[in-house]
Amino acid sequence: MISGFSPLMGLSGRWRDMAHIWSAAFLFLTFIIRETLPQRIIGGQEVVPYSIKYQASLQQDRNHYCGGILIHPQWVLSAAHCWRPSNIIQVVLSEHNLAVEDGFEQVFNVSKIIVNPAFNSKTYSSDIMMIKLSRPAMLNAYVQPASLPDSDTSPLDSRTTCTVSGWGVTRIYTFYLSPVLRAVDVDFIYNCNVYLASRVNEFMMCAGSRFGGKDSCQGDSGGPLVCNGNLEGIVSWGIGCANPYYPGVYTRVRSFGKWINTVINADSQA
Ligand SMILES: *[C@@H]1O[C@H](CO)[C@@H](O)[C@H](O)[C@H]1NC(C)=O
Repeated sequence: MISGFSPLMGLSGRWRDMAHIWSAAFLFLTFIIRETLPQRIIGGQEVVPYSIKYQASLQQDRNHYCGGILIHPQWVLSAAHCWRPSNIIQVVLSEHNLAVEDGFEQVFNVSKIIVNPAFNSKTYSSDIMMIKLSRPAMLNAYVQPASLPDSDTSPLDSRTTCTVSGWGVTRIYTFYLSPVLRAVDVDFIYNCNVYLASRVNEFMMCAGSRFGGKDSCQGDSGGPLVCNGNLEGIVSWGIGCANPYYPGVYTRVRSFGKWINTVINADSQA
C-alpha cells in the first residue's frame, strides 16, 4: 500500500514525487502527530525574513521549483534532480515571500550548470549540482555564502540538531508551496539504513524527527540542511514526508567538498 517501497517511486525527488498513496492508518497517524506538535517546510515556521542568507530559489518563469544554496559569490549548490536547462531557469537570492516583489531580490540568469558526474537518477546517489550565476551576487546583510565543513570539522553525532529551510509544501497532501521561507529543526540520524532498507549510501545522510511531523518535503529539494553552522546536507529525497519511520535523506556535502573546490578552481582558471 505504501508505494514508496517500490524501488523507483520511493526514490523520486521531493518535488516530483507528489503522488504517494498511503494507508489510512499512516495517514491518520501522521495527521495526529502533526496536529499535536504546533508551530511546527512541514512542522516548521516562517523564518525572520532574509535571515537565511545563503538560501536560493530556483525558478522557471518566475515559479519556484527547487531550493539552492549560495556557497561562493558566483556559485549555487543544488540537488542534481533539480536540473533543468540553464537557459530556462533563474536563481533568486534575498527572497522571502515568493508572491511579493519587495525590491531586495537579486535575480540571476545561469551561465552554466555542472551536474556531479556520478549522479544516478534511479538511486539519487550523488544528488548534487553546481550552478554558476551569470554575474557575482552582491554580498550584503541579506546575501552571504554558506560555510562548508572542512577536514577539521568534527563529525556529526547523534545529538546534533540541524535546520532545513525552503518554500516547500507545508502540508503533506497538498501541492501548494509556502509563499514565505520556512525552516524546521531536525535531528541528524546516524544510521538510517535501518529505516530505509539500504537505499542510503555514504554519499547521503539522514535527518528527521523520531516522532515524525518535522521534515523537508516537495519543493524543498536542493535546499540547505545546516548543522553547527555548516552546510552539511542538500534536500534530496524521502519516502513521503514527516513520517516517523522514514527520515528525510540529504546529499552529504562532506562527500563532495573536493569536487566543489575542483569545479570552482577549474572554472576560475579557464
Ligand atoms: C536574463 O537573460 C534574458 C534573456 O537573455 C535577459 O532578457 C534578461 O535581462 C536577463 N536577466 C538578468 C537578470 O540578467
